[in-house]
Amino acid sequence: MPKHSQHRRRGKYALDADDLEWLENTTAETLDGPPEGDRWSTWDQSTPTEKGPRPHPGWLVTELAAVDTELGILKTGKEADVHLISRGVPGTDRVCLLAAKRYRSAQHRLFHRDAGYLEGRRTRDDRMNRAMAGRTAFGKQAIAAQWAVAEFSALCRLYELGVPVPYPVQIVGTEILQEFIGTADGYAAPRLAQVTEGLDDLWEQLVAAMVTLAREGLAHGDLSPYNLLVRDGRLMVIDLPQIVDVIAHPTGPSFLDRDARNVATWFAAKGVHAADPDTLTTLLHKEAGLHP
Ligand SMILES: Nc1ncnc2c1ncn2[C@@H]1O[C@H](COP(=O)(O)OP(=O)(O)OP(=O)(O)O)[C@@H](O)[C@H]1O
Ligand SMILES: [Mg+2]
Repeated sequence: MPKHSQHRRRGKYALDADDLEWLENTTAETLDGPPEGDRWSTWDQSTPTEKGPRPHPGWLVTELAAVDTELGILKTGKEADVHLISRGVPGTDRVCLLAAKRYRSAQHRLFHRDAGYLEGRRTRDDRMNRAMAGRTAFGKQAIAAQWAVAEFSALCRLYELGVPVPYPVQIVGTEILQEFIGTADGYAAPRLAQVTEGLDDLWEQLVAAMVTLAREGLAHGDLSPYNLLVRDGRLMVIDLPQIVDVIAHPTGPSFLDRDARNVATWFAAKGVHAADPDTLTTLLHKEAGLHP
């Protein structure tokens, strides 16, 4: 068992002193590789609160003898890269595909989302707050980990609410492992932006998902046809690190309005008659208990 997994104790999804120590000490050299595959399965490195909701799905490989093999990059982005990984037990047919979203830290980039969204997300650790404010290399690593924690926490919460999101498998530092949305042979599901069929039904699915969020007082915060995947006619919501509490956040309702407008405008332009930005905005305000 890797040594850092033994002394990581923490409350649910909060970054604390153990995480700081872990971030500073973890290097590629501390992890011994397996005889095949690119690394041992990282499943046992995550504490129970760093793993997805129970029961873990049957398709998920949780055996300690499993290895992770990198199959390639699904998408590079400004803030994170998403890799395709297969996790399997060598010599058996136990295998599953996972999407690994790795938040960038070393590169000199500023999250375009950092400024507005990190408000109210300061941690209790003054040293980390100073590092994050100063944008030191360590501070950037801490910010990346903070985003990973935020997204993992959002995925778990929405999964348990029944919103269609990829199953959140685990979080390890700045990496989130989640259910791969695609085919069994590794082709990623298209983004909604590329989909031309079944749009009336997909619109219904989207409104249902947004209503569920609104009833919880939440908005996605960056909703667009690029953050929605379509697999076998089913819509999946992804890219959730900036999920917004529309009641508590000072400008919460504006995020909800922007989400509604983004998607309703797109569906309307594609000829979905039921899609109307104002109608959707009004509905979501009502469901969230906001004044019109
Ligand atoms: N669970 C998944 N299964 C399959 N593909 C995925 C999954 N998660 C992400 N992807 C692919 O990776 C892309 C980027 O993911 P995501 O939107 O979460 O990251 P991002 O860094 O915010 O990217 P961007 O800046 O392009 O929005 C998605 O559009 C999708 O094509
Ligand atoms: Mg995205």
